[in-house]
Amino acid sequence: MSINDNKELRVGMVGYAFMGAAHSQAWRTVNRAFDLPLRVRMAAVCGRDEAKVSEAADKLGWDGYVTDWRELIARDDIDVIDVCTPGDSHAEITIAALAAGKHVMCEKPLANSVAEARAMVDAAAAARESGIRTLCGFNYRRVPAAALMRQMVAAGRLGVIRHVRAVYLQDWITDPEFPLVWRLQQERAGSGALGDIGAHIIDLTQYVTGQRITGVSALTETFIKERPIPAEASGLAATGNGQAVGQVTVDDAALFTARLSGGAIATYEASRFALGRKNGLRIEINGSLGSLVFDLERLNELEFYDGTKPSAEQGFNRILVTEPEHPYLAAWWPPGHIIGYEHSFTHQMRDFVQAVAEGVDPHPSFEEALGVQLVLEAVQSSAASGSAWTQVAQPTVPVAA
Ligand SMILES: NC(=O)c1ccc[n+]([C@@H]2O[C@H](COP(=O)([O-])OP(=O)(O)OC[C@H]3O[C@@H](n4cnc5c(N)ncnc54)[C@H](O)[C@@H]3O)[C@@H](O)[C@H]2O)c1
Repeated sequence: MSINDNKELRVGMVGYAFMGAAHSQAWRTVNRAFDLPLRVRMAAVCGRDEAKVSEAADKLGWDGYVTDWRELIARDDIDVIDVCTPGDSHAEITIAALAAGKHVMCEKPLANSVAEARAMVDAAAAARESGIRTLCGFNYRRVPAAALMRQMVAAGRLGVIRHVRAVYLQDWITDPEFPLVWRLQQERAGSGALGDIGAHIIDLTQYVTGQRITGVSALTETFIKERPIPAEASGLAATGNGQAVGQVTVDDAALFTARLSGGAIATYEASRFALGRKNGLRIEINGSLGSLVFDLERLNELEFYDGTKPSAEQGFNRILVTEPEHPYLAAWWPPGHIIGYEHSFTHQMRDFVQAVAEGVDPHPSFEEALGVQLVLEAVQSSAASGSAWTQVAQPTVPVAA
């Protein structure tokens, strides 16, 4: 374990935009909220534009900055590389960081393809021999209500799981004039709504139920097939008004039905065209003894229907997940004083730092994230073959720790 004498864990982060800001907030906060054996030092952030990365380092609280991720990895005063870039660079940065003996936290989805994800798993397995730890950033596992959901399922409160119903809905690209950003380009993002937000509900439902998706039948759609791009990108077709346009090469929406390894049947829906839905992640699970509902817009709550109660007393109960005995909550505020989106990242950093200090693997491992990637691939393959039923290849590890 590459920890310095000051018991510091020195982090270098690549990318400083959306996830870079969320991770920075979590690295800044983690030692203030939680008592940990190691103190995080935010050593350096990497971005390609010097003026912008210098400003970001200052604003987000990093000691310094570099303009090439290779420089970050070469530094011997950095223990962890935190990858917050688009999917097309996850494999290259991660594999190089692991080879240099750095622990790695990598944002989801793990990679843009199964082949890349497998290479990352192999690199993580080799690095593990030297005590190097890896984690893929499926942060919603660490929303306390979602973690409680998993605990209640594992404790048998739902009995045998029959149904999983999961949606993740957004609406930020419904305007056809919205530009061709990296998330709409297959070579940069791997897939569209499927890999971006569908990956979250795949991971979360597998984590909560402890069951793997074994087969799928899928539909994907790209509603807007061309979008404006910045004029400086040459060689692209122009619209009637002279504006350059490019092809959207990912799905705008993905739906699939699935079977889970424990016998449950499931439906999944991921869309960026659900007008009015901003970041609507909702999961409902029905078992033989009860049901649970999690809704990210009300993330401090969990709805529980206990079918074992006398019928006169049955009904959905709202559990306010703010008690100290709820996952992660003892570190925060008195009961009823709610928390938010950013806390899931602080919890992720907390578990990562603790695992590095203890010399154990945090979850989700790269092997588990490969499991999500295998589902994404099966969904794309099914959609491309007229929704044909498609078996999902299985990773060799069980679901979650
Ligand atoms: N866990 C979550 O809930 C969640 C939410 C959003 C995004 N993500 C994931 O996080 C990753 C980043 O997404 P984002 O929304 O932060 O994207 P973003 O576009 O907001 O930021 C990407 C950053 O990466 C930088 N970058 C790109 N290539 C680089 C390179 N070669 N070297 C250095 N910097 C480089 C960009 O300059 C930018 O700072 C993606 O994998 C995405 O799927 C996860």
